[in-house]
Amino acid sequence: MKAIITTGYGSPEVFKLDKVAKPTTKSNEILVRIYASSVTKADTMMRTGKPYLGRLILGLTKPKHPIWGTGFAGVIESVGKDVTMFKSGDCVFGESINSFGTYAEYVAVPEDGVVAKMPESLSFEQAAGMCDGGITSLSFLCNIGNIQPGQKVLINGASGSLGSAAVQIAKHFGAEVTAVCSTTNVAFAKSLGADKVIDYTQNDFTTNKNSYDLIYDTVGVRSFAECRDALTEHGCYASPVLGMPLLSDMVITSMFGSKKAKFSATGALPQKEIKYLLDLLIDIIEAGHLSPAIDRAYPLEQVVEAHAYVDKGHKKGNVVLKPTVMA
Ligand SMILES: NC(=O)c1ccc[n+]([C@@H]2O[C@H](COP(=O)([O-])OP(=O)(O)OC[C@H]3O[C@@H](n4cnc5c(N)ncnc54)[C@H](OP(=O)(O)O)[C@@H]3O)[C@@H](O)[C@H]2O)c1
Repeated sequence: MKAIITTGYGSPEVFKLDKVAKPTTKSNEILVRIYASSVTKADTMMRTGKPYLGRLILGLTKPKHPIWGTGFAGVIESVGKDVTMFKSGDCVFGESINSFGTYAEYVAVPEDGVVAKMPESLSFEQAAGMCDGGITSLSFLCNIGNIQPGQKVLINGASGSLGSAAVQIAKHFGAEVTAVCSTTNVAFAKSLGADKVIDYTQNDFTTNKNSYDLIYDTVGVRSFAECRDALTEHGCYASPVLGMPLLSDMVITSMFGSKKAKFSATGALPQKEIKYLLDLLIDIIEAGHLSPAIDRAYPLEQVVEAHAYVDKGHKKGNVVLKPTVMA
């Protein structure tokens, strides 16, 4: 099969197209022919091998998984002898968290991993793009931010993968949502259902004192210290982007003060919990409250271009690769 092999850490040029053997399935695994695989901001960070701490998990001198990529959507080609929940021909999507391998025509994943049948309303591109941003934002809004109906929630970076999912999920839970994005994305943020949109090139939301119960900074560009005055008395600042300031704010606010700073690594949650989040996400999609946004789709061969685009930090929703071209 065609696959993208990682030759080391660094620029997008570390990726090379190659021919490798199709994965074989264990008795509890399904073999998926991939029609779309996600290219996420997290993928690009892992590609660079920075921060270096991540290499303890990914591989010290070079990635231990030669085929990159975690998010996928496709059609089951065959199933192992003990598989009971899926059958050949099912359209499925999910995250290959432990072994990666989705920048390829096929991936084998365990049936009890992070995989589910695709909602009928989604295309393969939408389904592949949905997992990273959707699952992460659902976890941040519900588990970390404890979102409640009627709360005032601000989403910074509302036009990205996490942000575009977050706006829709927060609306699903009955929050009053303020989306923050640049001028070019104001109409897009409104289309996602945001009640208010702040153009960060024109206005600074941190000057809106005592205004938000939850600030979810999906891109990690504003610190807890900058956002503190904009939070309500028991407000929470949450970001998926960890740095030393957020780490120390988390420790300090866990002991002192009514306003909290929080971080979580969704990929490090137990797989059962991630699968539970995926199932909740499907309920929100099937309720018609979440429609994943796709910015660009590239053929597998253009993985270098896809990564270079995501590296720029301005994608609108999600970017995917298309390992298999639909007949
Ligand atoms: N902790 C976790 O579990 C976890 C999981 C997944 C991802 N992450 C991390 O979460 C972060 C976000 O991921 P993502 O995929 O959502 O990123 P992304 O899609 O690449 O974000 C791009 C978006 O950010 C917006 N943006 C850029 N600068 C901004 C600014 N100064 N203010 C407001 N918006 C700005 C851009 O809009 P404009 O073009 O309009 O500027 C663009 O639409 C990444 O760092 C990723 O590694 C963490």
